[in-house]
Amino acid sequence: MIALISAVIFCFLTSALAQQGCSSEGQFTDSAGSYVFSWSLQSNGMYVDCNVSVNTADNRWVAVGFSENRAMPDTDVIIGANDGTDEFVEDRWNSQNRAAGPSLDPMQNIMNTSSMRDGNRLTISFTRPLVSPDTSGRDENLDVCRNVL
Ligand code: HEM
Repeated sequence: MIALISAVIFCFLTSALAQQGCSSEGQFTDSAGSYVFSWSLQSNGMYVDCNVSVNTADNRWVAVGFSENRAMPDTDVIIGANDGTDEFVEDRWNSQNRAAGPSLDPMQNIMNTSSMRDGNRLTISFTRPLVSPDTSGRDENLDVCRNVL
């Protein structure tokens, strides 16, 4: 059982996204490369391939969030982990309650999921629709600019 201990949270300014013109592909990283989030819109214009790669310990998870603002509540989350025995990549939602953490979406709207651990490097990949069929309010559509958390 992978312990959900702590998050590696990436907060990027809306302006950073704007500078990239809400690009159909790109990446965020830091100078040390300790994390990389990259995305690429498929040529059909309907699906986005995403990759999150982070330096983190075995028993920790990583997540990326898509949000209308820079705060934790009301954020569409994809979270994953892999300790060599158990692994998951899941579509979740951060509610108004920060302490509760992200809860599992009843409708999973990610595909082509994978997780890979190489030493202290954890990489999760997934494909998600640009416009989600989940109309419950637990997914953010990416056909407009979003903050990446
Ligand atoms: C078990 C999972 C999580 C727990 C228990 C948790 C809990 C918290 C708490 C208590 C704070 C407030 C910290 C403070 O006031 O000093 C916070 C802040 C924050 N969290 Fe989370 N978090 C979780 C997962 C996530 C995830 C998956 C994301 C996004 C991908 C996220 C994004 C943020 C951001 C951006 C903040 C700073 C801004 C704000 O307070 O809204 N968190 N978190």
